[in-house]
Amino acid sequence: MLSKYHWWRDAVIYQVYVRSFLDSTGDGVGDLAGVRAGLPYLKKLGVDGIWLSPFYPSPQHDHGYDVADYCDVDPLFGDLAEFDLLVTAARRLGVKVLLDIVPNHCSSEHPWFQEALSAGPGSAARARFHFADGRGADGSEPPNNWHAMFGGPAWSRVTEADGRPGQWYLHMFTPEQPDWNWRDPQVGAEFDRVLRFWLDRGVDGFRIDVAAGLFKHPELPDSDDPEADARTRDSVNPLAWNQPEVHAVWRSWRSICEEYTARDGRERLLVGEVSVPTAREHALYVRSDELHQAFFFDLLSAPWDADAFRKVVSEAMQDIAGTGSTVTWVLNNHDQVRTVTRYGEPAPEGSGLGAARARAAALLMLALPGAAYIYQGEELGLPEVVDLPDDVLTDPIFRRTGSRARIRDGCRVPLPWSGQASPFGFTSGVESAKPWLPQPEYFAEYATDRALADTRSFWHLYRDGLQLRAALPQLGEGTLRWLDSPPGVLAFARGDGLVCAVNFGTAPSSAPVSGTPLLSSGPCPAGVLPGSTAAWWMSDGTESPAP
Ligand code: GLC
Repeated sequence: MLSKYHWWRDAVIYQVYVRSFLDSTGDGVGDLAGVRAGLPYLKKLGVDGIWLSPFYPSPQHDHGYDVADYCDVDPLFGDLAEFDLLVTAARRLGVKVLLDIVPNHCSSEHPWFQEALSAGPGSAARARFHFADGRGADGSEPPNNWHAMFGGPAWSRVTEADGRPGQWYLHMFTPEQPDWNWRDPQVGAEFDRVLRFWLDRGVDGFRIDVAAGLFKHPELPDSDDPEADARTRDSVNPLAWNQPEVHAVWRSWRSICEEYTARDGRERLLVGEVSVPTAREHALYVRSDELHQAFFFDLLSAPWDADAFRKVVSEAMQDIAGTGSTVTWVLNNHDQVRTVTRYGEPAPEGSGLGAARARAAALLMLALPGAAYIYQGEELGLPEVVDLPDDVLTDPIFRRTGSRARIRDGCRVPLPWSGQASPFGFTSGVESAKPWLPQPEYFAEYATDRALADTRSFWHLYRDGLQLRAALPQLGEGTLRWLDSPPGVLAFARGDGLVCAVNFGTAPSSAPVSGTPLLSSGPCPAGVLPGSTAAWWMSDGTESPAP
């Protein structure tokens, strides 16, 4: 029987960055058994499911986003038997499990890339990737002028079997991540097999890495604006991303998911990491026969400003909800500066402004129509660790550019669970274990045991928000109605009588609804909405609509 209720349309999914969640073996790296041990904690928090960052065999040049074998578990994280235990435990608790699938590129250690290296120019094995001769008299110039996202050119030259410098291959990220050539039918067929492998093991769906990638312009021509590409690390090169052919892949993956749903009624979910310039282009990815969801990053990138938030929310509601899908709201993930720190800038350190805004933003997101994703540690209000010494940094962006700009280690520091000193319970039972990134002393304040014991913590705010969201029919999917509000304040109504308002300023404003809120991100006396605060009220529906 087909499920009537499309669970994913308003699901709240928690992103588990496996290597930093919980370490069960004492090697300082989180693992799948750690995730299983943490499931009751996540169930208590009230999320609907988890997305697991890549745990496949990988040389870890980009922490698992360089996959050497798509159908196994790296011994660093466990094995397939442990994976099965995790899926079973999650199913028992009613927690959905999404895997992270990486179809744009693999690892240079993937057997097919190794085969391509030894098979030589013109071979079928090379056709699965983008191999090309170089330019210039001796082929010593890359085939085109594209830049890699993580610094440097998007091409690397190989040494052929005769020991001479040979062809070049394309990699939009690091040289250890060669891009697949999706125009070769074997590539698509292989990914179908990979999807089925994990669907057969019981997963509920996939987060798709770089889902606006896969296809490049067929002729791989020079970019007209290499300067802009260099500035943006090629994230906008229209020849390298967002090619129309990619939509056929999502249609085919959707039909595989539907096939599994037709068998057992359990809906499988595809959520894409889709970075495209406009909400309108984004909407094309979530047409009813393509991806179920695509992360809407505009919310994450909006500055802390009422008008900016209103604009991105309105655009999303108009363009994405217009496809029949729901909007997938995102405020953070493993590639972004943590919310508390991002919203704190340029406020003076210790002002608490970043934390207050991050709490308000969380309530806002949970009140918006659609689905939401929460990155691990956000429920603790963890700040970005900004002072990691250079010698512990692992992000390939740092390795390849030598710059700390936009590096991602600071949001990936292992979670604190308990105690006063590192490893703060991250490593179960081995007090002397060293987490793979050093945890600052102040992580003690954020440990989960303290958060659970303190009703004013971020954790309780998230938990209360999630509980209300599950209980109130007005929340979850649906529409919103903007309400009249003073400058710097956003207010909207959901369904019959639920009002959410956020004061983006620092001075108090009058509340849009009289009476005590159901939930607020900070102290919120009746009739007042303090600065940097969000609140939810039940109302009698007498507020004025926005003009
Ligand atoms: C995505 C991932 C990021 C990774 C990159 C390359 O953007 O979120 O962590 O480095 O793809 O796979």
